[in-house]
Amino acid sequence: MTIKFLALFRRSVGVSALAGSGVLALSLTGISPATGQGAAPAAIVGDPARGLEKSATCLGCHSIPGYKADFPVVYSVPMIGGQNAKYIENALKEYQKGERRFPSMIATAKSLSDQDIADLAAYFSSQR
Ligand code: HEC
Repeated sequence: MTIKFLALFRRSVGVSALAGSGVLALSLTGISPATGQGAAPAAIVGDPARGLEKSATCLGCHSIPGYKADFPVVYSVPMIGGQNAKYIENALKEYQKGERRFPSMIATAKSLSDQDIADLAAYFSSQR
């Protein structure tokens, strides 16, 4: 019992020492330790229902099967309904970073937070 307790104690001391160095590294890179929590950031989970609410501006250009808004065909807009969520997320982040160059998509992507992107990816990938 006592030995088990000591082992646990030692392990928790080791962990907090690690956490301490994590906080130090974070503050050196200018990220506040308060938001960094000394560990990896919490995973963002996309919510398709919220994605639907946020998709209004996308629908005029990206024709979704079943959605009856037509956009004059000046260039072809890729279908994103039914596309893999990770693909959509990566594409939007590439527009944000300027790795993909299409002016209206860069402007659109820059207006989105990581949570918006996750929600939109969850929504569009759930389409058929
Ligand atoms: C003004 C019209 C327009 C609007 C609004 C728009 N898009 Fe796009 N989107 C495009 C065009 C055109 C492309 C292809 C551009 C290119 O060649 O890189 C594209 C590309 C994409 C791609 C990459 C698709 C692929 O197959 O590689 C994704 C993902 C995407 N848009 C998501 C969105 C989302 C999400 C929204 C709403 C927040 C949105 N778009 C709003 C016109 C638009």
